[in-house]
Amino acid sequence: MAETTPTFERTVPRILMCAPTYFEVSYVINPWMTGHVHDTTAERSHRQWDALRETVQRHADVVIQPPAEGQPDMVFAANAGLVFGNTFVPSRFRYDERKGEEPHNRAWFTHHGFDIADLPEGVFFEGAGDGLFDRGTSRRLWMGHGHRSDLDAAPALGRLLDVDVLPLKLADPRFYHLDTCFCPLTDGYTLYFPGAFDAASLALIEQHVAPAERIIVDEHDAAAFACNAVNLGRVVILNRASADLRARLEGAGFMVIEVALDEYMKSGGAAKCLTLRLDEAVGA
Ligand code: ARG
Repeated sequence: MAETTPTFERTVPRILMCAPTYFEVSYVINPWMTGHVHDTTAERSHRQWDALRETVQRHADVVIQPPAEGQPDMVFAANAGLVFGNTFVPSRFRYDERKGEEPHNRAWFTHHGFDIADLPEGVFFEGAGDGLFDRGTSRRLWMGHGHRSDLDAAPALGRLLDVDVLPLKLADPRFYHLDTCFCPLTDGYTLYFPGAFDAASLALIEQHVAPAERIIVDEHDAAAFACNAVNLGRVVILNRASADLRARLEGAGFMVIEVALDEYMKSGGAAKCLTLRLDEAVGA
């Protein structure tokens, strides 16, 4: 009789993080940055980033991207682009302040063997900040638009990656990237702040996410970046969650780990946007 191969082998997720060497708030391109120009310290931001890296490293392999001088927001690795299988779709940033990151990201992903798939000229798209793969259904991409990314990116991504793209219109300027207000979790659970979306987009979420799988975040938790979570299997790493949100996540089988990231919130980011999943699986 032929021997069967055990199928319980688990692969360790791979996460990219960009070192915070040059991180600071040096301009204002989202409401969180207002009043915080030159308000961060290297000591505190490096310590918080190290704590996140150490926490993520307990559940994933972390790969470090070298930062570029003069690109303070490059630390937000989620915005480098969108990874799907071995394909990398580089971001096209809306604001001039971040466009200088583009050549560095293209070079890094080219050097690391990814196939580069470019969006059409003139279409803005800010990578895994606005493009989030569903973890329950393969080949479904939720895409935020309305602040940074263009709706035109949706059909283009569908073609480039052969995925179904569900566009969600972001309606509140505080939640300017999809990953600030929406987070697909293992087994189809979805963490989101309804107030960040227009009515049609909320209806689209409700059409695809069963009531029992919706983990609704209130404004208080959303403002503490609870939706900006790194999900690795049954682990959820985030800046802060209220007792109520933690209980609901635990009730759904998740282990919640808080890592304080207030220095990065002054720039409008937290756990999820400081990371980029490099092994985003291509499902069946
Ligand atoms: N200061 C950065 C910006 O406004 C923060 C980016 C946060 N990234 C994210 N994926 N939410 O572009």
